[in-house]
Amino acid sequence: MRLIIREDPKAVAYYTANYVRQRINEFKATRSRPFVLGLPTGSTPVEVYWHLVDFYKRGELSFRNVVTFSMDEYVGLPRTHPESYCSFMRRHLYDHINLRSENIHMLDGNAEDLAAECQRYEDKIKEVGGIELFLGGIGPDGHIAFNEPGSSLESVTRVKTLAYETVLANARFFGGDVNKVPKLALTVGVGTVRAAREVLLIITGAHKAVALAKCIEEGVNHMWTLSVVQLHPSAMVVCDEDATLELHVKTVRYFKSIEQVQEQLIGRQNIGLKGSISKLSHADAQGLYTSAPQPPSEPDSNASAEPDLSEEMGQSDVDEEEYVAYSDAGKSFKATLMPVDDSAGSSGELHDGASPSATRAAVAAVGGPFQIPPSPQNSTIC
Ligand code: PGA
Repeated sequence: MRLIIREDPKAVAYYTANYVRQRINEFKATRSRPFVLGLPTGSTPVEVYWHLVDFYKRGELSFRNVVTFSMDEYVGLPRTHPESYCSFMRRHLYDHINLRSENIHMLDGNAEDLAAECQRYEDKIKEVGGIELFLGGIGPDGHIAFNEPGSSLESVTRVKTLAYETVLANARFFGGDVNKVPKLALTVGVGTVRAAREVLLIITGAHKAVALAKCIEEGVNHMWTLSVVQLHPSAMVVCDEDATLELHVKTVRYFKSIEQVQEQLIGRQNIGLKGSISKLSHADAQGLYTSAPQPPSEPDSNASAEPDLSEEMGQSDVDEEEYVAYSDAGKSFKATLMPVDDSAGSSGELHDGASPSATRAAVAAVGGPFQIPPSPQNSTIC
């Protein structure tokens, strides 16, 4: 499992949206081989959706061959109610992009036979080849979709009674009145999420810090259903600093160091989007054992066999785990990188069109090639 930590919810939203954009673009979906995306509701993904709409409007992302499945829906709430998840998804995403209407799948919380509706959903997911990427939020009680504490980790789409904590949390969307919050929902199951080929959870805020700690530092447990991502072969959690408050310092440092070492010493161009290290050129391999990259034709025979970055950084008092990085110019820096568009990797064409080394130096200075852009300008979205 990967844990990506960003400073605040805005940075989390941009990282996530950019990741989804890259996954869809890399997939090269066609009508007969669509990209199947599972999507959440809630306040956490709203800004992710803004960015996806923005990418679409700028011509950087098309949903023409994307198929979507929403995670859940209230039972008994009219579809046209502003707080139905159908209205939510239309308001924040579907009405603003080029998704084909037949590719949009939502649960019908007003179906006469709710069990049959749930079965129809599972069948439909299978029919399109399964979910490629499941994007999810969590509740403070650790639920994924509406899989409340105690849900079977094998569960599939079904009717679920909402936990009182969830009803309370959602009362804010119903004028603060818990009586107006539906108490039943249809939701994909934990097993449905697990069956996706990739799971990406976004977690922000101190109120979700306990859930994140349970997810990462404790065992797989049906009382914290998000912990099931530990069993998933391709899972990523993107969280903000506040959400890490209950994690051990050691855990946070570990995940930060993994990301920094991969991005900066192994090289973005050698890392697949999903974090796999696919190849390592001679030059890159050398970078792993020296404090600064050396050209392959001029190997540094005095290079230490182990990395010793502390002296270079003038931070001899830090743990080995608190990794730092270098720039092409040989100038030391410490940075938090955000994902780089793959087209930037080997071609050296980054977003600002600068040369690779100049750009890397710039990245060093500002902390990443992607700065958080303003929310979409013409706010027809909400
Ligand atoms: P939130 O809800 O994004 O509004 O916090 C997420 C959830 O309850 O799943």
